[in-house]
Parts: sequence; C-alpha cells; structure tokens
Amino acid sequence: MPPVLVTGATGRIGRVVIGQLIDAGVPVRALIHRSDAAATLPAEAEVFTGDLTVPESLDPALTGAGAVFLVWTAPPRTTAAVVERLAAHVRRVVFLSSPHRTPHPFFQQPNPMAALHADIERLIAATGLESTIIRPGMLASNSLAWWAPAIRAGDAVRWPYGAAGTAPVDDRDVAAVAARTLHRDGFAGGDYVLTGPESLTQAEQVGAIGDALGRRIAFEEMTPDEFRSLSEGTAPSSVVEMLLAAWSAAVGQPAYVTTAVADILGVAPRTFHQWAADHAAALTEGP
Ligand SMILES: NC(=O)c1ccc[n+]([C@@H]2O[C@H](COP(=O)([O-])OP(=O)(O)OC[C@H]3O[C@@H](n4cnc5c(N)ncnc54)[C@H](OP(=O)(O)O)[C@@H]3O)[C@@H](O)[C@H]2O)c1
Repeated sequence: MPPVLVTGATGRIGRVVIGQLIDAGVPVRALIHRSDAAATLPAEAEVFTGDLTVPESLDPALTGAGAVFLVWTAPPRTTAAVVERLAAHVRRVVFLSSPHRTPHPFFQQPNPMAALHADIERLIAATGLESTIIRPGMLASNSLAWWAPAIRAGDAVRWPYGAAGTAPVDDRDVAAVAARTLHRDGFAGGDYVLTGPESLTQAEQVGAIGDALGRRIAFEEMTPDEFRSLSEGTAPSSVVEMLLAAWSAAVGQPAYVTTAVADILGVAPRTFHQWAADHAAALTEGP
C-alpha cells in the first residue's frame, strides 16, 4: 500500500490520525514545517519537512504517496498551487474542513475560515482527485484551552453564552473517521459533518467536566465585552467575533447533531463526559 501523507502532523487532529493509521498497519508520512517537531512524532512515521506556503517544498513528501490528509491553518495564498501538486502526485485527499454549509444558525455566522475552507473544497472538486470532506463541529479539546486554566486554579469558569448549545465531537473520533476514509475504499465523494452524540450547553459542558473530575465547578456568565477584553492578544479579533456570533445564535435551540461518526466507524461517538474523564490529567495538571 502506498503511504499516506499527513499534513498538520503536529496538530491536534493530524497527530491522532498518524497514530490511528499506524495502528491500522498503513505506512505513514508526516509533514512538518518546523524541524524541531520530528522528535515528537512516532518512530514509525517517515518525517518530511515541507511548508504549505512553499508548494514545491512538498514534492519529496508527495512523491510515491497514495493519499493525503490535508489540514490548512497556513495563510491562503498558495492553496491553488498546493491542490494542483496534490492532484499531480496522489489519488486521494481527505480535507479537514468545517460545517459552513450546514443550515443551523451556529454554523451560519460570519467566519473567515469558512471562506478558506470553501475555496479549498472548490479547488479539490475541480481536480480528478478522489476526495472526502470531513467537517467537525466544535472540537471537545477546545475546552482544554478555554476552561482548563480556571479549573486548575480551582476558580469558577467565567465564559459568555453559557446557554449556547454545541455538540462537542471528540478529536479521536474525528481522527478515526479521517484515518478510515484515507485507507479504506468507499468514501470517495463523501462529505460528512461530524458531531458528538448530544447537544449540551456550554454551562452543561463545564458541569460534565466537574462530574468527570468528581468536584463541582461553578459556571459564571461573562459579558461578550469582557470576553473581547480577555481574548485580546491571544486570539485574532475575527475569531473572537465569530465565536461570539455563533454562540449567540445558538442560544435557545439544540445543537446540530449527526450520526456520521457512528455511520462510518460502526461505533457510537464518544460523549463529552467520556472526553473529560479521559483528559482529567490534562484538565487538572496541564499538558
Ligand atoms: N477547533 C475546532 O473546533 C474546529 C472545528 C472544525 C474545524 N476545525 C478546523 O481544523 C483545522 C485545525 O486542525 P487542528 O486543530 O488539528 O490544527 P492545529 O492543532 O492548529 O495544528 C495546525 C497544524 O498545521 C501545521 N501548519 C501550520 N502552518 C503550516 C505551514 N505553513 N505548512 C505546513 N504545516 C503548517 C502546524 O504545524 P506547527 O505545529 O509546526 O505549526 C500544525 O501541525 C482548521 O482548519 C480549523 O478550522 C477546527
């Protein structure tokens, strides 16, 4: 079997995809763009250095590969040249996108990433590549970055829109779907919105973390303006405004829930409570 090239190999999803492909006996190549990252990857992965903003740098990693897992968090200007190179070398691509086509208010707010994702999807569709688009909703692991600092300090979690419902999807389920669609046939043309099994408000999610850790964690509502001030210097204002608009639009209705994870993997998606229980050490002690 020709190897699968995983981009975003040091990222949240790519790193887990690599482990799942190795477990399935699939030869794996990992693309890194900072040379110091190689030591953090499994020894079974063949590591290549390359940069999505320098398309020709990808050629060594692509030559002889059969499929690519594409994650794009780089600036957008080289998307067309990179997709062209993928089509010249490999047969199959699985792209990590977002549910920007889903007609639920949560996913229909102004979102700079949506335009980038739509552009890459259009470029991929214009090639002859076998393609699968995976669209996770809110990743469960976002709560590590968002709420773990307060949880570690023993403080209440202060956050805006506690009543906003999302259906957090476990990163491991997203990675498992990606791995399955990369190395098994039958998913060409597939387009899957991946969610967790249930809608939970953000306050309920903090409660579920408390249940998993065996202690009560208080939730306190924060105003959007407080959230803007808190996020200054840590997140681009476009992302902050996108999140605030999406949460605001989500209040008062259940989150969008799909059966795609179960349909593809044949097992139910992990619950948010399970995610929290499995990440208790990271939530309380740090990475
Ligand atoms: N968070 C969510 O809830 C959510 C939901 C749906 C979709 N998504 C989408 O998921 C994607 C992010 O996935 P993730 O969380 O796994 O990513 P991540 O953890 O942010 O990691 C990004 C990866 O891309 C690599 N990278 C960055 N710039 C690069 C470049 N110029 N050339 C080559 N590699 C480069 C990074 O390498 P270094 O580590 O070396 O920088 C890293 O491995 C985004 O497209 C996001 O919109 C996220």
